[in-house]
Amino acid sequence: MERVGVGLLGYGTVGSGVGTLLRDCADDISLATGKQVYLAKVLELPGFSHPDLDAGLVVHDVGEILADPEIQIVVELIGGVDAALEFERAALQAGKHVVTANKQLIAQHGAELFDVAEQSGAHLRFEASCAGAIPVIKALRESLAAAQVDTIFGIVNGTTNYVMSAMSDTGAPYDEVLKKAQELGFAEADPTEDVSGKDAAAKMAILSSIGFHSRTTLADVPYEGITGITAADIAHATSYGYVIKLLGVAKLIDERVNVRVYPAFVPMDHPLASVGGAYNAVFLESRHFDKIMLYGPGAGSIPTASAVIGDIIGVVTTAAGGFVRNCTCYRDLAFFPHADMVSSFYVRLQVTDKPGVLGQITPILGEEGVSVRSMWQSGRDDTAELVLLLHPAREAAVTASLERIAALECVQGEPTTIRVEGEEPR
Ligand SMILES: NC(=O)c1ccc[n+]([C@@H]2O[C@H](COP(=O)([O-])OP(=O)(O)OC[C@H]3O[C@@H](n4cnc5c(N)ncnc54)[C@H](OP(=O)(O)O)[C@@H]3O)[C@@H](O)[C@H]2O)c1
Repeated sequence: MERVGVGLLGYGTVGSGVGTLLRDCADDISLATGKQVYLAKVLELPGFSHPDLDAGLVVHDVGEILADPEIQIVVELIGGVDAALEFERAALQAGKHVVTANKQLIAQHGAELFDVAEQSGAHLRFEASCAGAIPVIKALRESLAAAQVDTIFGIVNGTTNYVMSAMSDTGAPYDEVLKKAQELGFAEADPTEDVSGKDAAAKMAILSSIGFHSRTTLADVPYEGITGITAADIAHATSYGYVIKLLGVAKLIDERVNVRVYPAFVPMDHPLASVGGAYNAVFLESRHFDKIMLYGPGAGSIPTASAVIGDIIGVVTTAAGGFVRNCTCYRDLAFFPHADMVSSFYVRLQVTDKPGVLGQITPILGEEGVSVRSMWQSGRDDTAELVLLLHPAREAAVTASLERIAALECVQGEPTTIRVEGEEPR
């Protein structure tokens, strides 16, 4: 049986999972591919050791992997951008196929890497970069290649979904829930990339590029995180029949693309509302297939490694003859301006509890063309909390009215705004 060597860069959380699956599922992989796919070498930093890894496989110079003629596939799992870019570029230039889970690298430098792959005739696969074990990239690139996808939105970061779910379930504040998530291993020691929305933004850039066949990079995706969500917002969401989720939202509007990441009110009867804990789910809407939801574990050693192995199998089975194009961005669509997006909003304001406050706020909304769907007010001492749900309006109009409202003497501090997503048009 023909042997296919794999060179693994990084033997951390995902890398060690790939090592485990290559060893434990070797028979399944050869039955699927007709070839013996084996771990040939592992690049790690000096001083590295792992109880499950034969120390004889470990090298400290990527050149040893690139020069090994038995290694046909390089799997990059060191994370980060600079060294990973250098290693992937060199591997592709050396004619090796590359499989990676590195969403930041693909979202920031995908175009360059696809060009290098094109020139050398190598495959570049990145299923594990988005939503862990969920085969969303394969679904978009292959299964749904002939369907027009109009909207891709979903929960693509497990850490923030765990935090939002736990805040909803317990009523505990953000800091307390995040600390608990770190203790339980659901959040990194430095969770910045997750809680800021940057991790989800990179994934949405990739999903948008594939779903709409037009390049979206991380720089094209504004992102808001969950650090400003309070227990009060969660309680209001519940009382109005919503849950708060950090969503990635990519829309194709009039042949233009809009991609963003933000926390959103999602109706409790929407399928995404029941996605709890660290799970991920991607919701696809299309004029051709209506709706599809893909759901599953978005991270973790073996779940993510299983997506990497799926890519390795895809490369092994298609490298010799058929070819799924690396880069599917064969259109060059413009971006739809964020200010022209039409959204509904939840707004929470602290106001002076005096007669006439509403009489100052509602005319401003009216003048800017924003109408109120419902309003709730609760006073304590001489301040009151005012909660508004707004009908869909151009975001520029909502922003302009809230800037004017924030400048009123009766309004204390900045308004909190959270978009509402997933409602059927009325
Ligand atoms: N963890 C997940 O659930 C998950 C899910 C989806 C995607 N991903 C992606 O998968 C990739 C790997 O993530 P991970 O969680 O497995 O990371 P990790 O646990 O930190 O593992 C990375 C490994 O690579 C080593 N390394 C770092 N720089 C290196 C270099 N220049 N040369 C050689 N070895 C180097 C690290 O060594 P040290 O520990 O000594 O630094 C570590 O052993 C990332 O791109 C991540 O975004 C991860």
